[in-house]
Amino acid sequence: MEIVKTIPELLLAKKKFATPPVLVPTMGALHDGHFALIHKARDIAGPNGVVVVSLFVNPIQFNNASDLENYPSTLEADLAACERLGVDLVFTPETASLYAENRSVLISESSLSSKLCGATRPGHFDGVCTVVAKLFNLFTPIDAVFGKKDYQQLAIISRLVRDLNFPIIIHGVDTVREADGLALSSRNVRLTPEHRKQAPGIYAALKCAADRVTQGAVEPSVLLKLIQKQLSESAPDARLDYLECVDAATLQSINQIDRKCVIAIAAFFGNVRLIDNIELTSQ
Ligand code: PAJ
Repeated sequence: MEIVKTIPELLLAKKKFATPPVLVPTMGALHDGHFALIHKARDIAGPNGVVVVSLFVNPIQFNNASDLENYPSTLEADLAACERLGVDLVFTPETASLYAENRSVLISESSLSSKLCGATRPGHFDGVCTVVAKLFNLFTPIDAVFGKKDYQQLAIISRLVRDLNFPIIIHGVDTVREADGLALSSRNVRLTPEHRKQAPGIYAALKCAADRVTQGAVEPSVLLKLIQKQLSESAPDARLDYLECVDAATLQSINQIDRKCVIAIAAFFGNVRLIDNIELTSQ
């Protein structure tokens, strides 16, 4: 496995690739959720293909300085895991090598980003789109793999690829969870023991709402109330950032479950912000 830190090194390493790579962008602090993406990338690439993983905590997508400062870093363990999972190249750039001091171009998605995390984290998706476009330009992958845990991010990246004609296939991987249902996240390690106990309440409430849809419920407002009630009992310390039922394709709020849709939630435990979602299909 090759580890490269700078763009010139990367361009040199790329010349040795037998095929265009399959890319897995991450911010490091890797866990089983990221590993599922790497497995998927390895499957797509096949034995002779090339899998590349980027580990870069992208400062311009953080709208909160303390979240950036406290973002966990486990570089040694990340590199060992990538090696074990058959990654061919890991890219760990310094911020200065990706961002010129007087940079003045940002990529901005203006429709899907207006809701959910985009509404409560201004500028976040501009930062994500910009760094992902840079990685696409640098690696020219044929495939790239993203997690459905960040449902809105996956939708926005798919839009970025469509609207800017990146010749890349985007693959979505299902959310990997702890045994108790909590979605794996690099931020989970920052939960207090009490909050860690309460956090699985998020997915339990989402699942309960999804079960109601299977039984024929069609009113988002009823489902959202049910989730709020459940959360107030199972996770009393959770402070909702948003809770919405949206169309799976447009991410716009809906008032009837009559198509593929998603319930998306973001909640704070102390200063740790967790997100999760569940897909619903109308009966
Ligand atoms: P990061 O949070 O490190 O996540 C990297 C990828 O792992 C994303 O595609 C995310 O959806 C996926 N992922 C995280 N937790 C997961 C889980 N429990 N199950 C399945 N997939 C999971 O998302 C980012 O980094 C950044 O925004 C990035 C795209 C790298 C741009 O900086």
